[in-house]
Amino acid sequence: MSGDRKPLISGNWKMNHNHFESIQTVQKLAYAIEKDDYEACDVSVHPPFTDLRSVQTVLQADKIPVSLGAQNVHEAEKGAFTGEVSAGMLDKLDVEYVIVGHSERRELFGETDEVVNAKATAVLHTGMTPIVCVGETLEERTEGRAQARVTEQLGGSLAGLKPETVEDIVIAYEPIWAIGTGETATPGDAQEMCAHIRSRIAETFGAKAAESVRIQYGGSVKPGNAPELMAQPDIDGALVGGASLNAEDFARIVKYRIYQA
Ligand code: 13P
Repeated sequence: MSGDRKPLISGNWKMNHNHFESIQTVQKLAYAIEKDDYEACDVSVHPPFTDLRSVQTVLQADKIPVSLGAQNVHEAEKGAFTGEVSAGMLDKLDVEYVIVGHSERRELFGETDEVVNAKATAVLHTGMTPIVCVGETLEERTEGRAQARVTEQLGGSLAGLKPETVEDIVIAYEPIWAIGTGETATPGDAQEMCAHIRSRIAETFGAKAAESVRIQYGGSVKPGNAPELMAQPDIDGALVGGASLNAEDFARIVKYRIYQA
């Protein structure tokens, strides 16, 4: 983390926690995270769609400065898309961040870079912030194609965005082989790819966008490895899966500064 970029620590709860469990988790988080922590970094939680209204109510009633996030969105404004949720609907729930193009969406639900681009555009259109996910498979990494793959995903997912828009978005680098496996990219590897992402942004959208865009690392982030990952100059936050389900663990990640050497 360097410069003026405020880190963003996000908890992606995936398909875990019903709305009762989500309420309990945010209430526990509110006890564990202190004013100093919120001053040092932004925090978001991304519960399942069915929990958003309940979590919104708790965050607002108790004035908890955690941002509400969603895990996905449909790109269309409205229409005959059974089972889908629009950006407008999320915006009405005061959602601030929407994850788009998570590798599980890309791999299990066939989302292409074009779809991810349309989703990011729909999110931006309402004034919310997309967290655009990119990351290579193990095969791509072992074959030395990791940077090329991420470059391609960035090009497709951010196509047509204006430089001043890119300044305010969030990119999450999540190597697929590190997600839910307990295997983390080394801080050096994660830094190298995040620096690569920033230099690609500079080339396509200019220096200002590259300096301002926040780049998160995701993939088996835990309280124990967060301090070293967050110390890297091009890593501006974390997108946390498994460890974010437990309020104490997630709060320890948010407090990574305390554990830094
Ligand atoms: P884990 O932290 O469980 O590896 O998940 C990472 C992730 O996919 C966050 O979006």
